[in-house]
Amino acid sequence: MMSNPTEGEDWWKSAVIYQIYPASFNDSDGDGFGDLRGIVQKLDYLTWLGVDAIWLSPIFQSPMFDMGYDVSDYLAIHPSFGNLEDFKELVSEAHKRKIRIILDLVLNHTSIEHPWFQESRLSENNPKRDWYIWRNGPTLRKPNNWKSLYGGSGWTYDKATRQYYFHTFFRQQPDLNWRNPELRSYFFSVMRFWLDLGIDGFRLDAINVLVKDPEFRDAQPSLLAQLLGKENYVTRNQPETYQIILELREVADEYKGIMLVGEIYTLPPGNHRLVASYLTNTVNLLHLAFNFSLIFSRWSAKRFSSIIGKWMDSIPVEAWPCNVLSNHDLNRSIGSDWLKSSSDDKAKVMATLLLTLKGTPFIYYGEEIAMRNAWIPKRKIKDPLGKRFWPIYQGRDCSRTPMRWNNSKNEGFSTGEPWLPVYSDNTERNVLNQMNYNNSILLFYHKLLALRKSSLCLLYGEWNACIIDGKNVLAYYRYTLEEKILIILNFSNRQRHIHLKDELDGCILISTHRRADEQIKATFIVLFPYESTVILIRTND
Ligand code: NOJ
Ligand code: MG
Repeated sequence: MMSNPTEGEDWWKSAVIYQIYPASFNDSDGDGFGDLRGIVQKLDYLTWLGVDAIWLSPIFQSPMFDMGYDVSDYLAIHPSFGNLEDFKELVSEAHKRKIRIILDLVLNHTSIEHPWFQESRLSENNPKRDWYIWRNGPTLRKPNNWKSLYGGSGWTYDKATRQYYFHTFFRQQPDLNWRNPELRSYFFSVMRFWLDLGIDGFRLDAINVLVKDPEFRDAQPSLLAQLLGKENYVTRNQPETYQIILELREVADEYKGIMLVGEIYTLPPGNHRLVASYLTNTVNLLHLAFNFSLIFSRWSAKRFSSIIGKWMDSIPVEAWPCNVLSNHDLNRSIGSDWLKSSSDDKAKVMATLLLTLKGTPFIYYGEEIAMRNAWIPKRKIKDPLGKRFWPIYQGRDCSRTPMRWNNSKNEGFSTGEPWLPVYSDNTERNVLNQMNYNNSILLFYHKLLALRKSSLCLLYGEWNACIIDGKNVLAYYRYTLEEKILIILNFSNRQRHIHLKDELDGCILISTHRRADEQIKATFIVLFPYESTVILIRTND
């Protein structure tokens, strides 16, 4: 038998990780902006829910052009979130409850307001010049055809020295030059600073875009080539990036039980092999890497099964998958309509999927109450992407609205005016109401998390699809040498009949429609619409 799985250095394999968008989680001081003390106030809730770690989207000093993904001081907390003392309290209060803390580290770029960039732009021989990517352009032209992922050219002209600087994202986020050894060692010391305060890992922002082609060659792939999954793009996945990740890992490994999870940008989303290449088992790269393909899947059993199968197959032996349904960059319901219906039936199917797959689940705040994608009036939009592309694309605010806690003012998020409107599609949809309502998705999440934690088979077992009835039904096994669990998900709004090859003999662990502990012995099952059922199979011994 294994020791308590969440205690060891591999804690992240058995953990459920909860992503908090700090501005929108809980506001303790009434300024309308969530903060660290607000998070401390909700730690008991997170303990009750059953999460093992929280990942905080960026909390460092920032002009907040891109909500903290534009850092102006890596060693300070943004004042709206609190200060270093508040942070230490958060770490200590979380650890008391056995909840680990993961910080978001943005290594690819800084804010344009970072003192390094302010220096770097002064002159070509400034000591910080080489910390960023500066190039001359041929007369009246940009240095090359590299694009920003957020629209337009990746090059912005800076008058002071008449050169261009490169930015993968907004022009307010100049890219750093990771070939500079001084810069590298500075960031290693940033990591140590936070690790010394006792944190448990980092989420590495856009980590695969860190290094660009040294010869600044034009990007070749046509849109078609990119859509076909050709990822030999010159501004990402460069061989040196892997080398740098090894070095980041070495720093992490100076400490015990530190986890690195990387955001790997792929076009189209879900280039499983590429994501998995950052996890290899022969050398120590990342512990986990996000694969966003579930988020983009159509509402179809077959589709989910094929995505999951490919993802599982691409993970090297000894490496570990992780799974995610939503985050702060994407619509809460992108690619599928699972949150568009007024009932939470589909969201429960997704919850069951997420929490019974092999791999570390990441839950985005509010997912546990099936918070919907918000509609934000144009004048209230904060995300510069939304401002830039409205109405074709309304930006990312729709999945960043305040957490809904109870029936009081602003649904308990803040006593002041929230920075983004609270989205109240349905007055029942808040934590307090759902805690008191037997059939709520929140209680379902709570039970699923508890079940997962209690089952070595769900935590560590292999995954194997067994029945796929077209768009409608997906059933799969999780199994170890000792145990076998069958998960059945009905994606359809109708009853479905499933025939099993061998007689099913087991006991219900959790179900949306059946009683836990009920025995089930059959070769034929009639599934209720949107039923999710998890069955422990009786084995002979
Ligand atoms: C990915 C982050 O998730 C996103 O929010 C941000 O805008 C970009 N990286 C740039 O940091
Ligand atoms: Mg506040």
